[in-house]
Amino acid sequence: MEKLWLIYTHPVYQECLRKNKLSEEKRRFCIHNIQHFLDVARLAYILALERGYTALGKEEIYAAAFLHDIGRWKQYEEGIPHEKASMQIADGILKESGFEEEKKNRILNSILEHRKAGEKQEELSEILHDADRMSRNCFACDMERECNWKEEKKNKRIIY
Ligand SMILES: [Fe+2]
Ligand SMILES: [Fe+2]
Repeated sequence: MEKLWLIYTHPVYQECLRKNKLSEEKRRFCIHNIQHFLDVARLAYILALERGYTALGKEEIYAAAFLHDIGRWKQYEEGIPHEKASMQIADGILKESGFEEEKKNRILNSILEHRKAGEKQEELSEILHDADRMSRNCFACDMERECNWKEEKKNKRIIY
């Protein structure tokens, strides 16, 4: 089976999707569901094409996007920063979905760095971070004024 489908159907992945959904049921700000993961995956792949990052595989990009916020529920429940929680959860899922060590480590690193601003060492980390930001439609969001994203971080116009 293709690796991305192995990730999506992994029992731990499904359990985390369910837990994210439960934790964010009443959340009025951005949520972290499969739609967000797909938005980020597609944007990240477009960025890889536009920036000429040809060494990155589609599967690797989608895997990073699908897993980058998977531990968000742990941040609500235990106060662990979600990039760390997601990285820890992603490790086992990636291993069991057949990702070899080098790719797995690159994906884990991009998850860990996805909230960090500034220069990134790895192309995957850079596009995951940028796609994550671009995916949010602040210009059309009712919660924009109350959102604690820094003003310069918000997408006040359609980004394309
Ligand atoms: Fe995140
Ligand atoms: Fe995200």
